[in-house]
Amino acid sequence: MSYERPQFFHVMQYARAADRDVVDMVSGNPDWEPPAALRAGLREYADADPDDFQYPPSEGLLELREEIAARRGVDADRVVVTNGTGEANYLAMAAALDRDAGSEVLLADPVYPYYPGKADLFDAEATLVPAERDGSLDPERFREAASEETSLILVNTPNNPTGAVYSRETLRELADVAAEVDATLVVDEVYDHFDFTGEFESALTLDSDRVVVTTGYSKSMAITGFRVGYVILPEHLVDTAKTRHMLVNVATSRPPQVAVLNALRETDADYYADVRAMLRERVGTFTDALDAAGAEYARPDGGFYVLARFDDFPGTMANAKRLIDEAGVAGMPGETFGSARDEWLRFALVTPRVEEAATRLADYFG
Ligand SMILES: Cc1ncc(COP(=O)(O)O)c(C=O)c1O
Repeated sequence: MSYERPQFFHVMQYARAADRDVVDMVSGNPDWEPPAALRAGLREYADADPDDFQYPPSEGLLELREEIAARRGVDADRVVVTNGTGEANYLAMAAALDRDAGSEVLLADPVYPYYPGKADLFDAEATLVPAERDGSLDPERFREAASEETSLILVNTPNNPTGAVYSRETLRELADVAAEVDATLVVDEVYDHFDFTGEFESALTLDSDRVVVTTGYSKSMAITGFRVGYVILPEHLVDTAKTRHMLVNVATSRPPQVAVLNALRETDADYYADVRAMLRERVGTFTDALDAAGAEYARPDGGFYVLARFDDFPGTMANAKRLIDEAGVAGMPGETFGSARDEWLRFALVTPRVEEAATRLADYFG
């Protein structure tokens, strides 16, 4: 088996070692405050009874699973609390592949690189299906690519890196394609709170036993270091996922589950709306600069990434390094997200220095 280490770390290390000031637009770490109730829950936990410092139930604290289930309108038995969305995706892929319904995984191109990386872990074959120029997906392309070897279709909305938000109709058609070849549709919704269109609908609304939804609190609560996420599986897949989760992890750490539960209960919608408003402003600042730089880009409908294409500056690793050295801005090379956007660079808007980065890019390319 061979699998590669994702390239994020390589670019971040290069940027850190540069002998000039660099605005980091590589990492997906939110730079804003988590909900106040999250800090409060964590503080309170420090004084909890020693019993509360022992193993939690493997599939997650019951109260947290019930809270999630009530919010998502599903039975709590279908919820497994995981070490972030990353593990949720791993469990979802494993459950789909464990059905022995084929060893091919269909992924959209551009692709979040951890998906093909995980497919490699399972010795599955990843087939990339190109997204449209605006980032939307044409389910017909998936239908053409699907075969009896396809066991899994995995997509992410709001999307990293394109910023596209897929319509419910698109998701429904993808679920239909999955049904036609006896596959499972997994939808990673980790950016679900960052929808600027107001039209995002979870794939859970399809109410299909072909559909698995993964998400987490890394981004929505600005806590990528806490590692709390969850997967909602149809009944026929949930037991294998719980077993795998138990054998690999024993359980997800208890203190962050308690803090997340407190934050879920005590945080009102304004917290999320304020973050969205801030991100929307950053998108405006950044895309104005891209206009000034003469770049091509698709304005994100969700998430917090912008893909941009500059003339005669393809999205290679060499050019990402050149941009660090010559412009003082670190972005991800598009070539690390498959082949569909290898002319592009991806910039993460999770830095208070978006304006500065925008000015630097406009000066460099303008
Ligand atoms: C599409 C996508 N899925 C999953 C993850 C990982 O999320 P988590 O920190 O919840 O594991 C990320 C992180 O950037 C992501 O962009």
